[in-house]
Amino acid sequence: MAGDALTRPRHLLDFSAYDRKGVEAFLASAEELKRTRYRGEDLKGKVLALLFEKPSLRTRTTLEVAMLHLGGHAVYLDQKQVGIGEREPVKDVAKNLGRFVEGLAARVYRHETVEALARYAGVPVVNALSDRAHPLQALADLLTLKETFGGWEGLEVAWVGDGNNVLNSLLEVAPLVGLKLRVATPKGYEPDPDLLRRAGAFFTNDPKEAVLGAHALYTDVWTSMGQEEERERRLRDFQGFQVNGELLSLLHPEGVFLHCLPAHYGEETTEEAVHGPRSRVFDQAENRLHTAKAVLLALLG
Ligand code: CP
Ligand code: NVA
Repeated sequence: MAGDALTRPRHLLDFSAYDRKGVEAFLASAEELKRTRYRGEDLKGKVLALLFEKPSLRTRTTLEVAMLHLGGHAVYLDQKQVGIGEREPVKDVAKNLGRFVEGLAARVYRHETVEALARYAGVPVVNALSDRAHPLQALADLLTLKETFGGWEGLEVAWVGDGNNVLNSLLEVAPLVGLKLRVATPKGYEPDPDLLRRAGAFFTNDPKEAVLGAHALYTDVWTSMGQEEERERRLRDFQGFQVNGELLSLLHPEGVFLHCLPAHYGEETTEEAVHGPRSRVFDQAENRLHTAKAVLLALLG
């Protein structure tokens, strides 16, 4: 698993506490779990609380199914009931839940909320998406790329779209596994320049320049959860950034299309791209289950 018992990070909030060994250990474990279709009792009697401020299909379902397959249980708590920061301060929520369950997975608006949960809960905390990071998604993406190309070293992945949470996690993890990123965003939607620099990523405002010859083209929605009031402006600003047949044709001949889903068809992608021959989108979605299991085994096992 991720390092030995003493050095293994206690949480997965982003990849800042992880090194190459830690990330590769998650991936090796996920591959093994997928290959053996492992179900067992490693997390028998353990409970994961899912504290979600926003909706989810993949993240919630895969975390719940992963807990069940590993012999444990998940309790879903939505924001309407819990009212993190409204009905009760985040610190109090964390200190209560830490007395009831063996782990927390939290989907939050502000990254600071998941950091505060990790500070006060006293049990491992997994970021199930914040405004800053989506590490569970990045692990599933790495597994999908490895299955498609046999490894990550020397692969070039083009990101076309918003400089958002999903991209941030890819930028963090890419240099740990030797993946090269080629990022294209409209002006004003760039990711953190520090993350770009540390990843050694190529950056442009021209989608075609990013995609030409790349092994994969990755996009995500232009309007993330919580940004709905910016939608009209974003629709204007992202014109020319849609993934469609024309953009896909610029990829390497073996190049594939990735999307974390949900997709907003007619905006960042066409429906044909997601359901077409280059798409690995539903492998990515499936791999959320195997990588979630690996993370839960490492942190709660
Ligand atoms: N990709 C992803 O995290 O999907 P959900 O928002 O449905 O969980
Ligand atoms: N960037 C998207 C990802 C959804 C999985 C969002 O934050 O809404």
